[in-house]
Amino acid sequence: MLDALQGEFGVPGVVEFVPGRNGMPTVRLRHPSGAGAEAYLHGAHVTSWTTPAGEELLFVSRQSHFAAGRPIRGGIPVIFPQFGPGALPQHGFARISEWHVRRAGQTDAGVSVTLGLAQTPETLALWPYHFDLELQILLRENALALTARVVNHDPRPFDFAQVLHTYFRVADIEQAAVLGLQGTTYIDSLRDDARETETRAEIRFAGEVDRIYLNVPDCLRLRDEGNGRTLTLQKQGMPDVTLWNPWVDKAQRMADFGDDEYREMICVETGVAMATPLSLAPGQQWQGETIFQVENAPA
Ligand code: BG6
Repeated sequence: MLDALQGEFGVPGVVEFVPGRNGMPTVRLRHPSGAGAEAYLHGAHVTSWTTPAGEELLFVSRQSHFAAGRPIRGGIPVIFPQFGPGALPQHGFARISEWHVRRAGQTDAGVSVTLGLAQTPETLALWPYHFDLELQILLRENALALTARVVNHDPRPFDFAQVLHTYFRVADIEQAAVLGLQGTTYIDSLRDDARETETRAEIRFAGEVDRIYLNVPDCLRLRDEGNGRTLTLQKQGMPDVTLWNPWVDKAQRMADFGDDEYREMICVETGVAMATPLSLAPGQQWQGETIFQVENAPA
């Protein structure tokens, strides 16, 4: 399979299809600047994004599963068509489905791969709609741009949520801050989904956080002071932002997450969350994008 993918879509040294953990098929992107990215076809799951200097920007748990039917813990899970708990498996089925390669290559815009997922007998049994979901992963020197597109191929309208559940690696959660959410409304799932207004210009972390911010401005910042680095998140068509860190107790309850790993990560998730699901008429399409950019790398 990997040889066939390499033959059809590979570009030696630039786009390579290689076995990942437990032999699962992955695609590795290498930008001429030295920046790199890796995604599993399982879930279209980005598991690594490195700067030209070789620094890893994403967190992946050392206890993650890498197995069919199980989500990978860390990186960038693609959430679709349900966010959180509900009638479908938690966070939907896209993150536990096998995706197909549609396009790959190198242009002036960067090095990219596009992965796709359409209905299968398994997805139809869970969610009875014909759909197409596509994710383009585009790597530049100091940026990773993810574009998601959903098309309704069903004769009936459907509602969906689509979220990029990004786990950023930070040196120390207590020396990290998220900027750009001041004045927005959030739903606090740790307080019975209470709706509150964010008053802080800089959000810092000293305990469990699990919130969906609604209709957030399109530019956010994540300051990782321990690494002397700031990332910007520039988004389009993705109004909602979830902030999540499990902290001590929830980390201990999660089998696929190390007890102390909460210190090394923060999820800043962009998309259309279940709080405001989108409805798509037959034949209609939706597109959303988030660009992660390194503002300043450590000296
Ligand atoms: C977040 C949710 O998006 O994902 C949290 O807001 C949840 O409530 C977290 O714990 C992780 O979910 P999962 O299914 O990957 O363990």
